[in-house]
Amino acid sequence: QRVDFLQLMINSQNSKIKESHKALSDVEIVAQSINFIFAGYETTSSALSFASYLLAIHPDVQKKLQDEIDATLSNKVPATYDTLLQMEYLDMVVNETLRLYPIAGRLERVCKTDVEINGVFIPKGTVVMVPTFALHKDPKYWPEPEEFRPERFSKKNQDSINPYVYLPFGNGPRNCIGMRLALINMKVALVRVLQNFSFQPCKETQIPLKLCKHGLLQPENPILLKVVSRDETISGA
Ligand code: HEM
Repeated sequence: QRVDFLQLMINSQNSKIKESHKALSDVEIVAQSINFIFAGYETTSSALSFASYLLAIHPDVQKKLQDEIDATLSNKVPATYDTLLQMEYLDMVVNETLRLYPIAGRLERVCKTDVEINGVFIPKGTVVMVPTFALHKDPKYWPEPEEFRPERFSKKNQDSINPYVYLPFGNGPRNCIGMRLALINMKVALVRVLQNFSFQPCKETQIPLKLCKHGLLQPENPILLKVVSRDETISGA
């Protein structure tokens, strides 16, 4: 018996609810497991790659983040859930990374009934696309949208952000079910690495980064960076 998602799905087969709609078949359990690996792994790892790239080319931001991490976690102690939530600048850096690089570049919904919104008729069955990537770069909402500025997400500025214009995890009843896990995972990884290492661009780093035009958001070429030990004992690319 484990306390995890897989166990929950297995339990649904064994319990009294077997006959109800809540019991999952073996095929459904496998499908859900694969779905979670795809939806959860590549997205988080790509977001971390983009974060590393942005920190490497913005050493001022990286230094400020490392200062916050060091001040919160003295002697490089590992982060806890509570200490991660305390770090405001870390949250700002992650949010701004996902603004510039929203891994799912667009959202889709299928219209369930004929509807008219603001004079536009949308017939039942139409696929409606929400252009997250374009919204995240719209100068009407984000001054100098191409600039990496974590301050956009400071406590002071956060309230003015429209939740339908900033959509890295979608919105509504079918938004990303793994959002909280993803954010915590990214923060754990960033803190652990930045406690010990700094990212720097190297001659192979493509600046500005060119993005692949199809599928999930990813760079055209792999992101190559130099990783420098903060105590100057290890160095590598
Ligand atoms: C940085 C990491 C991640 C990003 C940027 C991301 C983004 C998204 C987006 C944009 C959607 C569509 C939401 C909508 O249509 O409104 C979504 C759906 C989903 N995500 Fe994530 N995701 C991430 C990590 C994860 C993780 C870690 C998991 C699971 C452990 C996960 C599981 C899912 C699932 C199952 C759905 C479909 C939800 C549904 O249709 O009800 N995601 N994600």
